[in-house]
Amino acid sequence: MKKIIEAIEELRKRIRYHNHRYYVLDDPEISDAEYDRLFKRLLDLELRHPGLVTPDSPTQRVGTKPLEAFSEVKHRVPMLSLENGFSDKDITDFDKRIKKLLDDAPDFQYTVEPKMDGVAVELIYENGSLSVASTRGDGYVGEDITGNTKTILSVPLTLTQPEEGKPIPALLEARGEVYMETEAFEALNIKRLDNNLPAFANPRNAAAGSLRQLDSRVTAKRPLNMFCYGIGEISGPGFDTQYEMMLALQQWGLRVNRPHLKICRTIAEVIDYCHHLEDIRKQFPFEIDGAVIKVNQLKLQALLGQKSRSPRWALAFKFKPTQETTKIIKIDVQVGRTGALTPVAHLEPVQIGGVLVKRATLHNQEEISKKDIRELDTVIVQRAGDVIPEVVKVVKSKRTGREKKYVMPARCPVCGTKVVKKTGEVVLRCPNPDCSVQIKESLKHFVSKGAMNIDGLGDKIIAQLRDKGLIKEEADIYGLRFEDLTKLEKIKEKSANNLLQAIEKSKNTTLAKFIFALGIRHVGEHVAQLLANHFKRLENIQNAAREDLEYRKGKGGAKDTGIKGIGEEIARSVVSYFEDMSNKQNIKRLIEAGVYPAEVFSALSSPAAEKTFVITGSLRAMSRSEAKDLIQKKGGRLSASVGRSTDYLVVGESPGSKLQKARDLGITTLYEDEFFTLLEEE
Ligand code: IVH
Repeated sequence: MKKIIEAIEELRKRIRYHNHRYYVLDDPEISDAEYDRLFKRLLDLELRHPGLVTPDSPTQRVGTKPLEAFSEVKHRVPMLSLENGFSDKDITDFDKRIKKLLDDAPDFQYTVEPKMDGVAVELIYENGSLSVASTRGDGYVGEDITGNTKTILSVPLTLTQPEEGKPIPALLEARGEVYMETEAFEALNIKRLDNNLPAFANPRNAAAGSLRQLDSRVTAKRPLNMFCYGIGEISGPGFDTQYEMMLALQQWGLRVNRPHLKICRTIAEVIDYCHHLEDIRKQFPFEIDGAVIKVNQLKLQALLGQKSRSPRWALAFKFKPTQETTKIIKIDVQVGRTGALTPVAHLEPVQIGGVLVKRATLHNQEEISKKDIRELDTVIVQRAGDVIPEVVKVVKSKRTGREKKYVMPARCPVCGTKVVKKTGEVVLRCPNPDCSVQIKESLKHFVSKGAMNIDGLGDKIIAQLRDKGLIKEEADIYGLRFEDLTKLEKIKEKSANNLLQAIEKSKNTTLAKFIFALGIRHVGEHVAQLLANHFKRLENIQNAAREDLEYRKGKGGAKDTGIKGIGEEIARSVVSYFEDMSNKQNIKRLIEAGVYPAEVFSALSSPAAEKTFVITGSLRAMSRSEAKDLIQKKGGRLSASVGRSTDYLVVGESPGSKLQKARDLGITTLYEDEFFTLLEEE
């Protein structure tokens, strides 16, 4: 018997070790199959010797028989909530309040960490063993969810004693957030819908629903996870700082979001880091809805104390919500510059992340069918950054039976031409190149800022000029006369003159802008720049064959061909654009009208060539769009956000969170004068 007890203990020890490596450290040492074999050996032994099963055995994570109801757990230390802040001012006010209360206290720091959007849970470890797990409840009394929590594989059933570091306390109440990763949540919902069960509205609801299962075998099947962020009661000597406490929790085997926990020395640093977390929130595999700011020194936390429901030493900086619920009033289609028909949902207006959203794209018919989106449906709408809002899903429980299915029209809603769908494409297109919307949209694109940049030639003027038959294609813009313009509504002499001047000025342009202005399908600003840098002259681009464009890696030591960044689809599109007779004619007319796309001379020799720049803060010498022009002239590109492909971050006055991000990624930063020096170099 003694041998069996030892064997069981040894197996448990090994399995616990591998659990910790896999679920907490995310760094497994053995294969899944090997782990399964260890686990099965333990299960077999326990099955043959049921008297030897202990509650902290790793086999006990699979859930036990259902409970009648949850019993209550009284929290020794109340589980408080957090005060919310929504703006930079709320953060600085919080800082001022603290400094005032502490009467200009000695030096102290803040910790800032992500605020997970899940369910608060307390884990009580007695002599290193998990004895009770409970929900927050009303903050004073929660529900006993021990059985369910034991099924969460990143929650250790026993704590580990680190070789160096604090001894495991006799009593430890660790607190944290139980959540479900976004991908697991989506997979769970697909399974539920397949089984005719209602989908969970968001990962938080899924986590809460999973934790509140009376049958822990159900919970065991749900992929839950936990991060710890604090403690309640602890026996023995405590810690000096919040940060130290988090490190100790981690050393004892609990899961802590270490990589994103940061000590900030000033409130400006706090604000910067909060924005940084907001910027990268989409990169987390789970949802975060804010950042939690805490005074690092525990003595000061104690001095500051608490209000009725929240501590004075912490603040939750809430990110702007990116999803809201609203209703689809009707669905119609929009025709774009390339003739693509896009279904659009007109919504009951709703504020999302500080912007009033009235419309959302439904992408295409396939998307509508897949999500079963109907007119009058209640839907969840999402807005992420600058992208067009989209419908995430339908709240089917809100259906009344009056909703109407939508089918894309068979004809272009503008010109009535039968729409076509190319094999392999999901997009419907109006094939008529004379369709008035396509022409109007092409003209709008042609004059836009990143293209020919004709200031003052807005949508309304273009529409009037078209209606009066004054412009049919791009080159006609350059034939406009003073008398043509003053005939238009709301155009006085002065603005007519200004407009003529802007048209004249636009003739002098870069090759990249000119190529972009043509509106070749798949040729955005970046690709236009690549083409300009590579071919240097318009004629070279016009004469390029597919092999000159499409990038192919040279095999067996042969040289690469084509242009890096240009694939088959773009190459095809460019070639067929320049082969088209009417396009050729249009370009000829533009050149004859005096449009002069300057040849690229210096771009490739400049150290800025083919480099990606991002600007944070404001530049003293020029506006952002002037800086963009300058970068492009040298063959570089300006991007809006910092990422791994960024080469230089240009730091202007009052830089934002991009600076921190660039530093985190090890990206070279340039101050304004260094930036200009770089651009001047040949
Ligand atoms: S600290 C007394 N840190 O947010 C302070 N809370 O809105 C205790 N939460 O009930 C909370 N991530 O469930 C803290 N990193 C984090 C958090 C976090 C999520 C939750 C927690 C709390 C709620 C308050």
